[in-house]
Amino acid sequence: MDDALKTEMLAVARAARAVSYAPYSNYRVGAALLAEDGRIFGGCNVENAAYPEGVCAEGGAISAMVLAGQRRAKAVLVVGAGEHLVTPCGGCRQKLREFCDPSRFHVMAINEDGQQQQWTLEELFPHSFGPEHLS
Ligand code: THU
Repeated sequence: MDDALKTEMLAVARAARAVSYAPYSNYRVGAALLAEDGRIFGGCNVENAAYPEGVCAEGGAISAMVLAGQRRAKAVLVVGAGEHLVTPCGGCRQKLREFCDPSRFHVMAINEDGQQQQWTLEELFPHSFGPEHLS
């Protein structure tokens, strides 16, 4: 991943995290999704008093990308707090998988101290089920 692009994605994810609505967990998450056309879409977690109705940051970024007419993504960068870097939850791994090639899609996790780690979606979510299973 190109350094300038990563810096741009980090800025988008941090800005999204800053407006996240997480009054119940107090665990703010921001995501930046890089579409194949080069545009970057942000998303933040939005919680709800009826707890299971909350949505993850990655889901918000996917919705923004699809709304903008893009259906293929190359990478996601997720920002959260703490030493345990925030990796996409199981549901988000499946949601991301719909719009990418898992062996080429990069997942980057970064905390406020700049500690980071990177994987392919294939590494985090092997042998996954996707649209081609239905064709
Ligand atoms: N969360 C995300 O936004 N993305 C993830 O991949 C992990 C979890 C959010 C959901 C909830 O609002 C909070 O983090 C605590 O689970």
